[in-house]
Amino acid sequence: MKTKKLIFSMTILMLTCVIEASAQTVWLDELNLSNATQGNGVPMKNKSLDGKPMRIAGKTFSRGFGTHAESMLTILLNGKAKTFTANVGLDDEVNGHNPEVEFVINGDGKTLWKSGLMHQGDTARPCKVSVENIKKLELMVTEGTDGNYYDHADWADAKFETTGVTSLETYNPISNVPYILTPAAPATPRINGARVFGVRPGSPFLFTIAATGDRPMTFSAKNMPKGLKLDSHTGIITGKLNKKGTYVIRLCAKNNKGTAEKDLRVICGDHIALTPPMGWNSWNCFAGEVSADKVKRAADAMIKSGLINHGWTYINIDDFWQNHRDSKDKNLQGEFRDKDGKIVVNARFVDMKPLADYVHNLGLKIGLYSSPGPWTCGGCAGSFGHEKQDAESYAKWGFDYLKYDWCSYGEVSDGDSQKDPNKVPSFSMKGGNELETAMKPYRLMGEYLRQQPRDIVYSLCQYGMSDVWKWGGSLNGNCWRTTHDITDTWKSVENIALAQDKAAPYAKPGNWNDPDMLVIGTVGWGNPHQSKLKPDEQYLHVSLWSLFASPLLIGCDMEKLDAFTLNLLTNDEVIAINQDPLGKEAACVQTIGKMRVYVKQLEDGSCAVGFCNFGIDEANLSYKDFSKLGISGVQNVRDLWRQKNITKVNTATGALSIKVPAHGVLLYKFTKAK
Ligand code: GLA
Repeated sequence: MKTKKLIFSMTILMLTCVIEASAQTVWLDELNLSNATQGNGVPMKNKSLDGKPMRIAGKTFSRGFGTHAESMLTILLNGKAKTFTANVGLDDEVNGHNPEVEFVINGDGKTLWKSGLMHQGDTARPCKVSVENIKKLELMVTEGTDGNYYDHADWADAKFETTGVTSLETYNPISNVPYILTPAAPATPRINGARVFGVRPGSPFLFTIAATGDRPMTFSAKNMPKGLKLDSHTGIITGKLNKKGTYVIRLCAKNNKGTAEKDLRVICGDHIALTPPMGWNSWNCFAGEVSADKVKRAADAMIKSGLINHGWTYINIDDFWQNHRDSKDKNLQGEFRDKDGKIVVNARFVDMKPLADYVHNLGLKIGLYSSPGPWTCGGCAGSFGHEKQDAESYAKWGFDYLKYDWCSYGEVSDGDSQKDPNKVPSFSMKGGNELETAMKPYRLMGEYLRQQPRDIVYSLCQYGMSDVWKWGGSLNGNCWRTTHDITDTWKSVENIALAQDKAAPYAKPGNWNDPDMLVIGTVGWGNPHQSKLKPDEQYLHVSLWSLFASPLLIGCDMEKLDAFTLNLLTNDEVIAINQDPLGKEAACVQTIGKMRVYVKQLEDGSCAVGFCNFGIDEANLSYKDFSKLGISGVQNVRDLWRQKNITKVNTATGALSIKVPAHGVLLYKFTKAK
């Protein structure tokens, strides 16, 4: 009996020794970190984002993963790890800024640990998480409540204790292979773009007929109201309407292959931007490096690429056309205002009027950027105290669009004139959540813009504070950002997409929710690179922004448009969803696992439906919930990206087979069969 007990105890002891001997440490930095997606820069091994030794609140760490929010790294543990430990925090290299992030660990879809919000200067927070039996582990850094500015985040000392395995795999299942869906436009003429156009009485009129098809092409129009004239070679309509009213113009485009006709409804009244503005903005590619030359080249590329033939119109200059408060760049140094208080344009732009003329002569429109505070977000001169003069300057130069960015306004919103504007930070959200404070500067500029003798689309940029969608329109606003800045990562696009539902019911013609600019093509905020979004993620991004009826502003270098990006920007049936005159924004009507179904009502009684897969596995199902889409009877189903009728479905008895790639989309239009 005794011997038996001894043998049993020895066996247990040996087994324990074997198990302990096989337990193994695997450091996070030993894994393939290139599968991580992050808001800025590239994943860093044992270094901070800027390539320095990792330091959190004065303490240096020799091992770990340096990243930038929104950051996501998936690791396939398959039950082979027992614990994950790390010390997390914001890196000291962003000292002086005040970023905020949260570190989050998910295992098999459940949250296992959260750091809580962390700020620059916080000591590293230790985390020890049991990951036993977990198959897929996600290490995430979210942007906190303040956008992803300066979010240099460190997973320091990060390691796994495994069940014995000596390596672990990271994972990014989304395909990298681009594929083109948009069919080439036919050689015969086709008139694309907005079907309705708003203008105020007495304002200069500029509308370019967007038409694809072989050139040369001649344009003509029937029922052209008095005061407007059409250039038959370019298709550009100019002039002025003096009387309020609705004018239906029959547009015609003709080439040696055929003729196309289409009605354009011109509504001369109080409202402009009756469909979401479409164009380009300098920020996501050039950021602080923008110049008049780059703007002209972007305008030229809008013509050369043929994008103008699909309705793309605005060429918008973002921050950095003014002088800067402390830049080392000589071109940005100089007085902020002249002796009369008028805003001074920096040396890269010199004179705005000829630039605006240049853009208008191409049949395009031009936009500008400022802040109601003393400084823009980038630290250039803002409009504070000079709102009237600035609105007048923009109009005199010939601008058609203003993006007005909150930035430093919160710091002066208490009207403290004693405050030294030089000490005001360029970016602060102070005051933005008090409704009256939030509205005040936008009301002021809105009134001055309305007093100008031209139509200036007014874009409010204050990241959705105080539910701007509820009141932006009452201050003459035409569109308003609903969230913080976008970056070219899946997490950023996903978070922004998922945050739109509450604002959606407020969208209408002339009043658009703006989930920020497109992050496709060569983007990079002065550090050019191909968008880090995978092809399916880009299809989802453009489809959703179309369903959201959001302003479509291309953020990439227009001289580097590749075939895939052009395919995303030239699908007239997808664009038509965005530009539909009814002006409804899609809402999510159903969630099936990780798939969200969005429905946008269209003017002709049909509806656009986006089957959007936010999950990392293909969605494959037989869809029957047609009542959720608000449709009945027999419906024709058209695939808008492929521009193909795919089937007819009886919504009472039938089913639709739906196969959506991971992070991808099916964008369909349902029209009642006659
Ligand atoms: C903010 C805005 C951006 C851009 C920059 C310019 O971050 O949200 O879109 O305009 O300012 O500094």
